[in-house]
Amino acid sequence: MTQQSRARLVLGNWKMHGSLAQNAVLLSALRSANTEADAGPHAQVGVCVPFPYLAQTAQALQGSVVSWGAQDVSAHEQGAYTGEVSAAMLKDFACRWVLAGHSERRAYHGETDQAVADKARAALQSGLTPVVCVGETLAEHESGQTLDVIRRQLAPVLALGAQAVARMVLAYEPVWAIGTGRSATPEQAQQVHAAIRAELAALGTAQVLVLYGGSVKAANAASLFAMPDIDGALVGGAALIAEEFLRIAAA
Ligand code: PGA
Repeated sequence: MTQQSRARLVLGNWKMHGSLAQNAVLLSALRSANTEADAGPHAQVGVCVPFPYLAQTAQALQGSVVSWGAQDVSAHEQGAYTGEVSAAMLKDFACRWVLAGHSERRAYHGETDQAVADKARAALQSGLTPVVCVGETLAEHESGQTLDVIRRQLAPVLALGAQAVARMVLAYEPVWAIGTGRSATPEQAQQVHAAIRAELAALGTAQVLVLYGGSVKAANAASLFAMPDIDGALVGGAALIAEEFLRIAAA
């Protein structure tokens, strides 16, 4: 499957940023930019926002070409899981996407590779598209373990089977590149994306989108997107600035 035949996707990850007032400005900029300039059938744009702002986001973006989602989901359907949010609840707010296994969840909330796969499965069961994030730390990167780490993180996800994996999006986010201003070079990222693509191809799911994340900005987006196995971006810091985010999407 060539890159030309796969869609493009740029997703913003707001992380724990925003307020009702700030979001209103950002969302209205995203909405009006996209009603003027059609992103085209092959390019999709979305934002993953904090849970409390899903209602605001859904209302602001309804009817626009910008989709929305959340940054985490419970692996459980419902029940005594204080503080958790189920996939069905996200569906109530017309979410399209949900991140699973962002490196900050893995690092600060002890999410294991299996827990991430369980969350992805729960998301699929409610008709959401999980965006499963993988990536190595700086120490793992420097000791040449990158591909081993990626394969280990992917294993329980791929074990969900081809039918499930075909309905996911994957994101490669080297931890050392997140929020550091130090993006992977297009060649570095491509090497890992090609390895992920090979794993997907072995399962018969080579068409799955694989995003790159980690200090993506307007200035480096086009060179990353020129790589054959990079299908778009998961954007943190730059997603909070409407103009910057829209320039990445335009790239
Ligand atoms: P960044 O974050 O773009 O700020 O590096 C990316 C992410 O964590 O998804």
